[in-house]
Amino acid sequence: MAEKTPGFDTLQIHAGARPDPATGARQVPIYQTTAFVFRDADHAAALFNLQEVGYIYSRLTNPTVAALQERMATLEGGAGAVCCSSGHAAQLMALFPLMAPGMNVVASNRLYGGTVTQFSHTIKRFGWSAKFVDFDDLEAVEAAIDDNTRAVFCESIANPGGYITDLDAIAAISNRAGVPLIVDNTTATPYLCRPIDHGATLVVHSMTKYLTGNGTVTGGVIVDSGTFDWSASDKFPALSQPEPAYHGLKFHETFGPLAFTFNAIAIGLRDLGMTLNPQAAHYTLMGIETLSLRMDRHCANAVKVAQWLEQDERVARVTYAGLPSSPYFDRVSRICPKGASSLFTFALKDGYEACVKLIDSVNLFSHVANLGDTRSLIIHSASTTHRQLTEDQQKAAGAAPDVVRLSIGLEDADDIIADLDQALTKACA
Ligand SMILES: Cc1ncc(COP(=O)(O)O)c(C=O)c1O
Repeated sequence: MAEKTPGFDTLQIHAGARPDPATGARQVPIYQTTAFVFRDADHAAALFNLQEVGYIYSRLTNPTVAALQERMATLEGGAGAVCCSSGHAAQLMALFPLMAPGMNVVASNRLYGGTVTQFSHTIKRFGWSAKFVDFDDLEAVEAAIDDNTRAVFCESIANPGGYITDLDAIAAISNRAGVPLIVDNTTATPYLCRPIDHGATLVVHSMTKYLTGNGTVTGGVIVDSGTFDWSASDKFPALSQPEPAYHGLKFHETFGPLAFTFNAIAIGLRDLGMTLNPQAAHYTLMGIETLSLRMDRHCANAVKVAQWLEQDERVARVTYAGLPSSPYFDRVSRICPKGASSLFTFALKDGYEACVKLIDSVNLFSHVANLGDTRSLIIHSASTTHRQLTEDQQKAAGAAPDVVRLSIGLEDADDIIADLDQALTKACA
């Protein structure tokens, strides 16, 4: 009988984790050490030359972090993965080997506000730039890609508007242009969506959110599909050409499908230093063990809350893609068949003032700048997470001033609804 491929529930617990070789510890230990002892001088030289894989120094590699990398690569269906200190670090680390001064990334105009700011302003300091496009307008995406484009970037489920990207269509365009597609899969998680199955080259996450799942750590990861041909053109010299810092080593020629992964560790973590600490990796591994159970409950609760809000006469509109009334309902069943996650917005007929009063009137909800927690969370995006954006950018991103963002947690759905009901009564009096 052919060997059965383990299912997601099995892999989220076991992938990357094996009993500790030194002690037999069943849970992945927190290797709280900066450095690792070399066997001898030859061993040290081989590790530094990338001729042997092993542990040198925890800015580069660490066994607890390595277990998480293997788990994330497995769950996303990638060849390798590199963890880093935050979701924002993951975005910079993903772009770093691809970009150079004068190069650009073509990005969706529906992105987390912090990413819009990072791409609009901060990356300019490296001489990079971003072109923001409506990713529902496929001709515009195609037209925006020029000779200097080195990546296409979008979110599978966009924060905060619940917009779902047609990943297959965007991947086809990126592919034709010979540039990698990077997908931020934070809101969906690999349980709801696997962007590599839809043609993505790299997948990035803020592990701060649903992956850890309880608001305890800040972390990020880049998963490498291993499928992109970095040598097909002269656009990606950091991966295809000799690397002076490694005696002329060519990453793609030497490491094949793991070229990006090795480069992100050997150059990215070594020189940018945005490393994930082992304790954060341990908490994230523990969170991922229950990912599928939590995401099922997050989605079920979100459907109930969104349905209740949609029929409430104080509410102008609800953006949840899991509602049959959403323009993205059909797309979500193709891209995220198990559910549309638990992040969405709704607008109040009484506008901005009522939104502010609502936020000040909730009891069960926590008013915080985060999402993907066990607890239900609420925020007014336009004045916080999307504050640095222009009003047009806010509207495009689904964060207009009359809109409140919810991240529905794992409490009893009836209690979540009751809290919103009493707060709406105060806000819309
Ligand atoms: C979709 C998305 N991507 C990236 C980030 C950035 O992640 P981090 O806060 O871990 O840097 C966030 C943060 O809210 C996010 O919501």
